[in-house]
Amino acid sequence: MNAFQYKSGQLHCEDVSVARLAEEFGTPLYVYSRQHIVGQWQALDKAMKPLEHLVCYAVKANSNLSVLRALAEAGAGFDIVSGGELERVIRAGGDPTKCVFAGVGKTAMEIERALRCGIGCFNVESLPELLRIASIADAMGRRAPVALRVNPGVDPDTHHYISTGKHESKFGIALQDALAVYRAAAEMPGIEIRGVQTHIGSQITKTAPYVLAIRKMLPLIQQVRALAPQTLEFFDIGGGLGIRYRNERPPAAAAFAAAVKPLLRNLGLRIVLEPGRFIVGNGGVLLTRVQYVKQTPVKRFVIVDAAMNDLIRPSLYESYHEIVPVRKLSARRMFQADVVGPVCESGDFLAQDRRMAAVGEGELLAVMSAGAYGMAMSSNYNSRGRAAEVLVDGRRYALARRREGVGELMQAEIS
Ligand code: LLP
Repeated sequence: MNAFQYKSGQLHCEDVSVARLAEEFGTPLYVYSRQHIVGQWQALDKAMKPLEHLVCYAVKANSNLSVLRALAEAGAGFDIVSGGELERVIRAGGDPTKCVFAGVGKTAMEIERALRCGIGCFNVESLPELLRIASIADAMGRRAPVALRVNPGVDPDTHHYISTGKHESKFGIALQDALAVYRAAAEMPGIEIRGVQTHIGSQITKTAPYVLAIRKMLPLIQQVRALAPQTLEFFDIGGGLGIRYRNERPPAAAAFAAAVKPLLRNLGLRIVLEPGRFIVGNGGVLLTRVQYVKQTPVKRFVIVDAAMNDLIRPSLYESYHEIVPVRKLSARRMFQADVVGPVCESGDFLAQDRRMAAVGEGELLAVMSAGAYGMAMSSNYNSRGRAAEVLVDGRRYALARRREGVGELMQAEIS
């Protein structure tokens, strides 16, 4: 579904004019569509049927409590990477037993808290981590549910910063080492082998890398089943499903499921997925207001009130985000410009050399496809308070996070 559309020349999120939201809550402002977010989760959930499965939303993509609550209400599990994300899930009414806990650097405190909450599974990324989990579980008189995150050595053909399944990545345990670590795990009283996990990267726009990764994992799964026939429950094929930012043609939920299900059908295991961007990416925009249009001898700059601290993806990955005027005029002139923020870095841009509608001072713009890794990666650089967030549902909307004020900026500091 496309939740962001023009109606009577005004960009809407579902049935709400985003200009109205900017009036009420100010800019920069993140606006999310509940229907899009829940709809994407449901589409994937439905597409994976009739296989037993659980779609665990990757909290890191957008961890706003209102977003998490909407997904928890839909029945989502969650993929978390920190104690902080665990507390968010719990606060939002999510079920810790439906959570998988990933990450290469889990601390003792995080492990203990997750065990106390009844975490669904730890996705373990190294032998030292396994040993730590085993000893903490032992000391608590428990058995920790684990899967090993296995690195199958597949190139997902995405930006190198977000590719994780290749051999040189810091993530996971190499496929050739995995069985030995599983054997060690089978001997540890504090460990219960529950699953096998893999995740090859992010913004993957083809099904082939998934098919390849799954194929490479299948022999290991049979070996692990022989080691832990009573307790092996699931195969987690990770997240990374791509979305359309510009002209990509990523598979829809049904096409993705159709490609992977034949390989998974006869395993007799629950299939876990960990999508983040696919759920929220196109369910959010960043609204920003033009402050100035500045012409230098060589370039035109559209200076807006959002910056790299609000949305760092263009600066960090040279990601493309479409930028459109909130008010659509049929006969608009086009011009070429850089869309930049007020932060003191040459790398502070939302678009470079962009052919775009000629906009002027005071106009509202929407930076599209900003629902994933937007607010979640925001910072206070240049002592800028973080943006507000609004969740729209049909004609209704509610503030999901208020704008950060100067007081909050300095709250934790001591002088
Ligand atoms: N599972 C694991 C173990 C992950 O590391 C990630 C993302 C996901 C699931 C969810 O991936 P997704 O379905 O959202 O692609 N900041 C970058 C993306 C970093 C992804 C990190 N891991 C960006 O803005 O493109």
